Parts: sequence; C-alpha cells; structure tokens
Amino acid sequence: MTRPRFAVLISGRGSNMQALLAAARAPDFPAEPALVLSNVADAPGLSLTGTVPTAAIPHRGQPDREAHERLLAEAIDASGATLVCLAGYMRRLTPFLVRHYAGRMINIHPSLLPSFPGLDTHARALAAGVRLHGCTVHFVSEGVDEGPIIAQAAVAVAPDDTEDTLAARVLAQEHALYPRALALVATGRARLVDGRCVLDAPAVAGAFANPA
Ligand code: GRF
Repeated sequence: MTRPRFAVLISGRGSNMQALLAAARAPDFPAEPALVLSNVADAPGLSLTGTVPTAAIPHRGQPDREAHERLLAEAIDASGATLVCLAGYMRRLTPFLVRHYAGRMINIHPSLLPSFPGLDTHARALAAGVRLHGCTVHFVSEGVDEGPIIAQAAVAVAPDDTEDTLAARVLAQEHALYPRALALVATGRARLVDGRCVLDAPAVAGAFANPA
C-alpha cells in the first residue's frame, strides 16, 4: 500500500511534530513523513526529526507573505507530500496557501474551538472559569482557527490549575489527538465537503481523545 506523504510546518519546539513522526513509525500508520519545514531557521524542533528531511525557509527577506508561501508550497510539493500538518506554525496564512492545500492542510489548536481562538488560550480559559478545556484539530480555512473541526480532546480544569499545569495536560492530549486526526484525513475517513468536515461513522471514535 502506498501511504500518502505529509509535511509538517513548525516555528518552535516541535513537540506535536515529534508526536506525528513517532506515530508514523508504526508500520500500520496510514501516512508517512516527507518533510519538516520551518519559517524559523533555528527552530528547536528542526533538530528533532531523526531521519526525516528538514528545511528552513525564513519569511524575513521575502517581499510579502504570499511570496514566502509560494516557496513553502514549492518545497512541500517537491517533497511528494500531499498532506500538510501545521504544528505550532506561527504565521497567518494567505488565501494562496489555504486554497493550494484545501482539504489537505490541518492544524492543531490548544483550545476547544470555537472557544478561545488565537493566542494565550490557557490563561483565557482559566480567566473565563471554564470547567472543560482541551484541543482541536481542524482543516485550515481562511479565518484563523476557524476551519471545520476534525477531532477534539477535552481535559477537566482543576481548581488549582495554573496556566502551566493546564497547558501541560492539554499538550499531552494534543500529542495523542493529532496523529489520530491525521490518520482520519490520510485514509479519507475525515474529509472536507462543502466547507464542513464529514466523518465516516466508524471513524467517529477516532476523533476523540480523553484524559488519562
Ligand atoms: C501547541 O500547543 C499547538 O497546539 C499550538 O502551538 C503549540 C505548539 O507546540 N498551535 P509544539 O511546537 O508542537 O511543541
């Protein structure tokens, strides 16, 4: 069986990228990594990819966002990757990249969307007093953190949680959830249809992860 290939885009430490690469080492994982790409030349995650090729394409020095994204797309397409996973990629995307990978690009976000899009999600969840927090994997659309939801994992907020303790529990769920969501997309069991994520019924259980 030929497994579709995926690229991972990172800007920082790359722990979700590592979770994806670790999952893909299993022979029955339905996708294989082709490239880890960063817009930050010294992103710590670039040194944690093992045998998976890396590239850095800094956004600085490019005339505009789209020019940078065209270089990213060239590198991704040349690697043979047909799927793209954003994993802590800290650049807003233009319609060019979103459309180029429509239905083929996914992102992980550290909140239960549509609550808390954007940054500082854990502090905002604590300030809001929510009892459940978590993470979401979604198809990337033109709005930031707005794309159709593929999978979510919830964690209970403890009375004594700090931003750090809550972030750590959510991150553990991110690492469990993201490979499951990628597997759903790689096998076509989760797909983008008319702006919504359609999930095959037998796949639904794969779209949740629960706190240990
Ligand atoms: C994660 O919390 C992810 O949800 C968010 O950025 C963070 C990246 O962390 N988009 P890492 O680089 O994967 O460790």
